[in-house]
Amino acid sequence: PVPPATPQYRPAYHFTPAAHWMNDPNGMVYHKGTYHLFFQHYPEGMEWGPMHWGHATSPDMVSWKEQPIALFPDSLGMIFSGSAVIDANNTAGFGKDAMVAIFTHHDQVAEKKGTNKHQNQSLAYSLDEGKTWKKYAQNPVLKNPGIPDFRDPKVSWHEASKKWVMTLATKDRITFFASPNLKDWTKLSEFGEKLGAHGGVWECPDLFPLTLNGKTHWVLLVSINPGGPNGGSATQYFVGQFDGKTFTPQTTTQKWIDWGKDDYAGVTFAGTGARKIFLGWMSNWEYANQAPTSPWRSAMTAPRDLALKQVGSEIYLTSTPTPEVAKLAQPAQTLKNLTVKSELGLSDKVKMTSPQFQLKLSTKQLQDFAVVLSNAGGEELVIGYDKKANQYFIDRTKAGLSSFSDKFSGRHPGPRLATGPAADLTLLFDATSVELFADGGLTTMTEIFFPKQPFTQLKLRSATGITVDALTYAKLGNTLK
Ligand code: FRU
Repeated sequence: PVPPATPQYRPAYHFTPAAHWMNDPNGMVYHKGTYHLFFQHYPEGMEWGPMHWGHATSPDMVSWKEQPIALFPDSLGMIFSGSAVIDANNTAGFGKDAMVAIFTHHDQVAEKKGTNKHQNQSLAYSLDEGKTWKKYAQNPVLKNPGIPDFRDPKVSWHEASKKWVMTLATKDRITFFASPNLKDWTKLSEFGEKLGAHGGVWECPDLFPLTLNGKTHWVLLVSINPGGPNGGSATQYFVGQFDGKTFTPQTTTQKWIDWGKDDYAGVTFAGTGARKIFLGWMSNWEYANQAPTSPWRSAMTAPRDLALKQVGSEIYLTSTPTPEVAKLAQPAQTLKNLTVKSELGLSDKVKMTSPQFQLKLSTKQLQDFAVVLSNAGGEELVIGYDKKANQYFIDRTKAGLSSFSDKFSGRHPGPRLATGPAADLTLLFDATSVELFADGGLTTMTEIFFPKQPFTQLKLRSATGITVDALTYAKLGNTLK
C-alpha cells in the first residue's frame, strides 16, 4: 500500500520522479542544449526492485521534465547503473551522434546459481536524443570473469590515446578497460585494492581530468557502501595522473566529495567539455527504502561545478552550486555585522516564507557558530562549525521524523580543510534537504530531514561568540513553476 502523500516534502529545484523508487543518477549527458538524467528506477513500487533506467531532461539542471522510461529489464537481467556518451564519430556503428548507454545487466537468476558471473556490461543506443532506445543485439559486450561485483561502467573518450576508457567497479577496486568502438574491451589496469576506504563494496566510479594552474590532474570518484565518514554510503575520491592505462594517485590522504550522509553514487555529465558537473543521489542506503516521502522516494542533489584547489601539499576537489542554481536566487536580503553572543534571533528581520532558499554567511574571524532553523513545534535543524574540533557539522537530531530508521538521527561532522580565519558558507535548502558548501566548496555536506511543519524561524548561535560580516537570505525558485 502507498502511504499518504507528502507533497510538503517534494523539493522544487532538485529532481524527484513523479512516483516510485529512485536511486543512482545514470547516463548523465549534455547534448544539443539539453541535460539528460537517467536514473535507477523501480516504476512499480516505492522500494528498490527490478531496476529500469528512468529518464528526465532539463535545459538548466534545476527544472526537470520526466520522460518515458528509457530502459526496461530484459532476458539478460535488470538494468543497473552506467553511463552514456554521444558517439560523434560513429565508432560503434550505431549512427553518427548516437546516444549510447553503457550499463550493467544484473541477472538475478544467474546470481542464485552463485557463479559470480551475474553482472555484465551491455549497450543500448538512441538515435532520437534519448526518446527511444534499442538494446545492442550482441549484448553483453564485456563479460564477467567471475567477480561478484562487476558493475557501474562510466565511459569517456580519452583523447590522448584516441580510445574509449571504461572505469568499472570491481568489488574492492577499480578496473580500467579501453575500446576503439564501445563493443570490444581490453583490460588496462586495476587500482585501489590497498588504497582508500574499504568499509564496503566499491561502486559507481568516474574518471575525469581537471586543470589547476595550467596543469592537468585526473580525479577518480569511487562510491562505497557501507563505510562512509558518517556511516552508510558515501563517495570518496583520489587525485592523480592517468596515462591512458594506469591511474597513479598523488597522495593517499582519505578524501570525500561530500561528508554528509546523503550524497551517493554521484558522477559527472558527459558532453560538457572542460566543465565537470556533478550530481548525486540524495539519500543513503542505510535508510533510503524507509524515507518518509510518498508517492516517490528520493531526490538528486543540486548540480555542482567541480574544480581543484591546492591546500598545503594536497590537491582537493571543490564543489560549488552551478550558476544555474545561483540564478534561482530572488532579490536578496543582507544583514551586516551581526555580533552573536550565545544566541541571536533573526526572525523579525528575515521572513522565511518559502521552503526553497539560500543562506550565505561570511566572517573574517571564524569561531564557533550555528545556523538554526526551527518551527513552532520545537523542531530544529542546526548547521555550523565547531572550532575546537575544526569541523563543520549538520545536526538533524531534533529536525523532525527519524523513527523510520535508527541510522537517521544524529549530528554529523565534516572537517574544515581550508586554513586561515576567514570563512564563507553557502547553504541551499529545498523542503527536505540542506547542502552546505564551505570555504569555496572545499568542505561539502548534504543531508535530508523531515520536519513535521516547515522551518520558519532563523537564529544564530555561538558558544565562543562570533561576528558574522554578512548573512544573506534569498528565496530560490522564481523561474520554477
Ligand atoms: C549503487 C548501486 C550500484 C548498482 C545500483 C543498483 O547505489 O548499488 O552499484 O548498479 O545501485 O540499483
